[in-house]
Amino acid sequence: MDISVIDLRERDCACDALILPVTEEAAAGQYDYLGSAAVQTLKKAFSKKFSGKKAEVLLLPAPQGFKAEWILLAGLGKKAEVTAEGLRQAAGKSASYLKDNGMKKVALSCKIISSLKLKPSLFAEGTLLALYSYFRYKKEKNGSTLDNLIVLSTPSKLLKNELDMAVTTASAVSFAKDLINTPSNDMTPTHLAKAALSLRGKRLSVRVIERKDAQKLGMGAYLAVAKGSHEPPKFVVLEYKGGKGAPVVLIGKSITFDSGGISLKPAEGMEKMKYDMAGGAAVLGVIKAVSESGLPVNLVGLLPATENLPGGSATRPGDVVKAVGGKSVEIINTDAEGRLVLADAISYAKRFRPRAVVDIATLTGACSIALGGEAIAMMGNDSGLLDALKRCGDSVYERVWEMPLFEEYKENLKSDIADIKNTGGKNGSLITSAFFLKEFAGDVPWVHLDIAGTAWVEKEKPYIPKGASGVGVRLLLELVKGM
Ligand code: BES
Ligand code: MN
Ligand code: ZN
Repeated sequence: MDISVIDLRERDCACDALILPVTEEAAAGQYDYLGSAAVQTLKKAFSKKFSGKKAEVLLLPAPQGFKAEWILLAGLGKKAEVTAEGLRQAAGKSASYLKDNGMKKVALSCKIISSLKLKPSLFAEGTLLALYSYFRYKKEKNGSTLDNLIVLSTPSKLLKNELDMAVTTASAVSFAKDLINTPSNDMTPTHLAKAALSLRGKRLSVRVIERKDAQKLGMGAYLAVAKGSHEPPKFVVLEYKGGKGAPVVLIGKSITFDSGGISLKPAEGMEKMKYDMAGGAAVLGVIKAVSESGLPVNLVGLLPATENLPGGSATRPGDVVKAVGGKSVEIINTDAEGRLVLADAISYAKRFRPRAVVDIATLTGACSIALGGEAIAMMGNDSGLLDALKRCGDSVYERVWEMPLFEEYKENLKSDIADIKNTGGKNGSLITSAFFLKEFAGDVPWVHLDIAGTAWVEKEKPYIPKGASGVGVRLLLELVKGM
């Protein structure tokens, strides 16, 4: 979809549909300047069908004197309660509705948006995100979409930059979603590494650590997960150099399929375990956006990619392996594989002398049970970094919720024969999994984000169609922008 800014009055814009964002008080004068025909139309709508509630939409024939064919009222809720997220959601609902009704060229009235001190780019972002679809395996690929969004406003450098950022962001989210939605036979560690390599650019170098090199580096925990698969593991390292100073390292769990290994998962729902690389995909999305917009930061991305499969050479429950740094790990449950690959990645991150390490992972079923699909679970050892992520989460509406890392949880990970074991059972596993990682982070400022509950959407949300959500891309991009 193309976005343009044109300085035109609403009535003078020739298009399929003119979008009028309205609050619940709209009938009382907000749109008087549009003339009496438009006011009559609004009054009629508000008298019966429509109340302007958040994300409510209504399509009406355009009144006399308008060059648009239709008018779409997009509810924002009560004027005093309108938020940035409300605008994104109104945009998402509008976009889906207009698309479903065959509209191609639509225009956005910015009057109310500006008067509420909100940015049209929020509307653009919600629109672009809502229009995502995944057609790779359908014969019929021409699902309808919107072609043009005309922003009715005075052009300015600032507005253009904001809209450009919305486009870059949405395309990074789509990039991540495509990777996640792709089934595991077409999204092996090798495919994922290729996707990472495709991002290479002026300031962005990408290299892949193969199994042999990983062995030399002592990545025994990571390689233990890869042992059951015929697909070669790929540990991807992306380095973006756009600024000065110590980098932020983002680590994304990249299990391209998680069967559980010898501790095999039940069949029901196992097909969903293609999304166990959603953390890695999010990191790629962030780096794509950062590199495209040339942000003046230093950023490293690590994707420890492998499958987790059972087989004659797979790791057995009870096996002991050695992680980077020499810690021995007793693998009680081969389905607790995420923390194994992340442990070696966190240790590897230290060579960059990072100012912060953030890992993002579909790590535990317990995360979905605790927080459902509305919040990312967060734990870490640095209050500044935790606070920053909290703020970013609220701002982009990928909200995070901190869980307690009480020392006592560590007891659960005591092994009789090794330095640590990889699971302390299901109870409290959202937290003990983080404790396992904390042991490897040491004193590096580190935060862990568990996206097991949020990375996949079963029922569509106002601007997130069902399937991969791309969660984490906007959150971590916001964090990096603020560095
Ligand atoms: N990838 C799963 C976690 C998961 C489950 C993500 C459901 C998304 C949806 C992870 O590797 C896993 O299997 N975790 C186990 C850990 C347990 C064995 C301690 C879990 O949560 O059941
Ligand atoms: Mn698992
Ligand atoms: Zn997993």
